Amino acid sequence: MRIDRDRLLDRLATLSQIGGLAGTTGSSRLAFTDADKAGRDLVCTWMADLGLEVTIDAIGNVVATRAGTEDLAPVMTGSHIDTVATGGRYDGNLGVLAGLEVIETLSSAGVRTRRPLAVGYFSNEEGARFAPDMMGSLVYVGGLSVEEAHDTIGIDGLSVGSELERIGYLGATPCPGLVPHAFVELHIEQGPVLEEAGVRIGVVEGVQGISWTEVIIRGQSNHAGTTPMRSRRDPGYVASALAVSVRELATEFGHPQVGTVGRVEYSPNLVNVVPARVTMTIDLRHTDAATLQLAEHRVGARLAELADAEGVTFETRSLARFEPVLFDRDIVDLVEAKARLRGLSTLRLPSGAGHDAQMLARVCPTAMIFTPSHRGLSHNPAEHTDPDDLEVGANVLLDVLRSLAD
Ligand code: GLV
Ligand code: MN
Ligand code: MN
Repeated sequence: MRIDRDRLLDRLATLSQIGGLAGTTGSSRLAFTDADKAGRDLVCTWMADLGLEVTIDAIGNVVATRAGTEDLAPVMTGSHIDTVATGGRYDGNLGVLAGLEVIETLSSAGVRTRRPLAVGYFSNEEGARFAPDMMGSLVYVGGLSVEEAHDTIGIDGLSVGSELERIGYLGATPCPGLVPHAFVELHIEQGPVLEEAGVRIGVVEGVQGISWTEVIIRGQSNHAGTTPMRSRRDPGYVASALAVSVRELATEFGHPQVGTVGRVEYSPNLVNVVPARVTMTIDLRHTDAATLQLAEHRVGARLAELADAEGVTFETRSLARFEPVLFDRDIVDLVEAKARLRGLSTLRLPSGAGHDAQMLARVCPTAMIFTPSHRGLSHNPAEHTDPDDLEVGANVLLDVLRSLAD
């Protein structure tokens, strides 16, 4: 049995046109925006067209279920359809649309599984507008309350709850959600490992720990021409020096330590004004919990040192903090076995990116399947995966889901 490649590619292309970024194959559908709503509506239509039972929960997660021959906990798949503002066509979308494709393939073949099959898209996986990332799946598993999630304020000053209501996805299904029998997510790798190794299928063993911190540094705003360097209290300087030390720390710790300053906002952000305030974010990730903690500690100490020397003040706020996750050994083995049965080369690897699967792993046996990313590009409209790889990834998902559901 194999999935319908053209149908999968068509759906990926159609969804990517919602919030489509002109001149690229990518999209911008930040969580709970009008574009996110339009993408949600389209995927809900596809779910309904397949005759699935669709539920929407209190954080806007959408789950579509196909009944099994027995009334048991479902085997679940899925991912997210929100994107960063410079999103590609495949990040998240592949996992959701491949899940639909698996269900349509089974239905076309008249195959019923013993357990129900569910495919979901979880709200605000990206966390680019509202932190933390994986918010919908975190609420789904009970790791964050609905109230706390709704009260979250985004980068534009609006709240999750008001935006969810505005787009019509404040659903009635309660959270935490139904605990699946197992969860398997197909996703693009978003890094260079599989392509460089010439391997078709990534067997994901876990997800590295993630630490996001927002830092606000306040100093003395003043005239750029008249203020001698000796009397400056410049938060811009401290932010820049801190960004450099994040990079140096990652280099010192070595792979797989990564560190990113992705958002910096100067205020008042004018050519001839020493800034009054700088807001910046620091994203640190490592597969080892203790090393990640050490990295956080070192960055915090450096910030204090820089601030003291410059005479500025600062405050920090944790935006997201997730420990490294290891997936279920049996399902990881199953993914590998099913890929090999299809004659595909495999490589075991950890995930560098955060995923909804890392949240589902808190409540049920979970694993992931990766397909290669061309040039390792992601969170970039140029994100690309070869259609052959998309197809085989979805076929492995089909085999794994069937096996778990029977
Ligand atoms: C979210 O998906 C992330 O890994 O940043
Ligand atoms: Mn993703
Ligand atoms: Mn992403």
